[in-house]
Amino acid sequence: MAQKKIALAYSGGLDTSVAVRWLQEQYDAQVVTVTIDLGMVDLEPARQKALRIGAVNAITVDGKAVFYDGYIAPALKAGAVYEDVYPLATALGRPLIARYMVEAARREGAYAVAHGCTGKGNDQVRLDVSVAALAPDLQVIAPIREWGMSREEEIEYGRARNIPVPEGRNSYSTDENLWGRSIETGDLEDPWNEPPEDAFQWTRPVSACPDEPSYIEIAFEQGLPVSIDGEEMDGVALVDHLNRRAGDHGVGRIDHLENRLVGIKSREVYEAPAAVVLHSAHKALEAITLSKEQVRLKTRIAQEYADVVYNGLWFTQHRRDMDAYVDSTQRHVSGTVRVRLLKGSCTVVGRRSPNALYSYELATYDRGDKFDHRAAEGFISIFGLPVRTQSQVQGDE
Ligand code: ARG
Repeated sequence: MAQKKIALAYSGGLDTSVAVRWLQEQYDAQVVTVTIDLGMVDLEPARQKALRIGAVNAITVDGKAVFYDGYIAPALKAGAVYEDVYPLATALGRPLIARYMVEAARREGAYAVAHGCTGKGNDQVRLDVSVAALAPDLQVIAPIREWGMSREEEIEYGRARNIPVPEGRNSYSTDENLWGRSIETGDLEDPWNEPPEDAFQWTRPVSACPDEPSYIEIAFEQGLPVSIDGEEMDGVALVDHLNRRAGDHGVGRIDHLENRLVGIKSREVYEAPAAVVLHSAHKALEAITLSKEQVRLKTRIAQEYADVVYNGLWFTQHRRDMDAYVDSTQRHVSGTVRVRLLKGSCTVVGRRSPNALYSYELATYDRGDKFDHRAAEGFISIFGLPVRTQSQVQGDE
C-alpha cells in the first residue's frame, strides 16, 4: 500500500528541516515540502535542500503578487495596524501560506498539513484556523509543538541524520516577507534592552543615514498606490522600492511590547519601511478626501480589522464584510501625497486630490474668502442652545 503523505510548510531552516525526517519517522509518512515566497525567500536552495533531506517532492510557489493584491492591499486600504504600531506583515502572510498548503495537500493527496510553529505564538493559531476554514477535513500537525526537543537536541537529531545544521547560535527568531520583517527572542527578551544594531537588516541606524532628506511623491487611486515620483509600478515593485528607499533613511523600525493572542506579552521588533510610509501617506490622503464621519468610523473599523488579522481570522465572513465597507470608503481616495524621509522619520509634507474636500475659499483668512461669517452667528445660537438652556436652569456648576 502506498504510504500516507503529509504536506509540510518548509522554510529551509533548522526546525522545518528536522521536521521532514521527524514526520517520516513518527508518522510513517512521506513528506512533500512546500516553500512559499511572499518576498525575500530564495526558493531553489530550499527546494534542493528539502529533496536532499528526503522529501518525496518539493513544491515551490512564488506568492508575491497574490500576497500584495489579496492581503497587503486590503489591509492597507483598511488602515490595519495592530496596537497602533505593527503593520501585520507576519500575520497577513499566514493565511496565504495556509491556502498554498491546502492546495498542495489536495494536489498531492496528503491527509495532513504540517508547519514549524511553536506552541507559544500567534502563527500556529493563524495557520491552524486558516486550514480549518479552507479544508476542515485536513489534519494539522505541528511537530515543534509535539516533539519537546530543545534547540541543542534538535541539532543533535539533525546531525545524526545528516541534515545540515547551522553553526553557532542563532541570535534572533525572524520572519520576513514583502510587508515587513519580524524579529524576536535573544537580547530582545529583556524589554529594558535597546534593540541591538544586529537585529536590523532592512533599515540603517540614524547615525548612518544621509544628512539630506529624500522626498517621495506617491500617487494613489481608490486607496491604493499606483506610482512613485510619477513612475507607475505594480504593487510588488512599489513596496520593494519603498522598502529600500525608506530603509536607507532608517524609516520603519518598530519596537512593540505586544499582546499575543495566547495571552503572553512579548517584546517584538519590526522593520517595515514600505508599510510605515504607505500607511501614513494613505491616512493623509483619507484625511483630505473623506468626511469627518467617514474617518471616525473607519478608524474604528481599522482597529477591528487589525485584531481580526492578528488573531488569524482572515478567512471569515466578518473580514469580508469589513472589506466591503472599506472598499466603499475608498472610491474617492485618489490623489498624491508627498512624504519626507529623514534620519528615521517619515513625515507627510503635502497632499492633493481632485476629490479633495479641503476648500481654499472656505479655509483661507486672505482675500478670496467665501465663508459666510455672518451665518456663523445663527449657527452658534442654535448649537449653543442646549448649553444656554441648561445653564439658565441649573447654573454652570
Ligand atoms: N509577533 C508577530 C506576530 O505575531 C511576529 C511573529 C514572528 N514570527 C516569528 N517566527 N519570528 O505576527
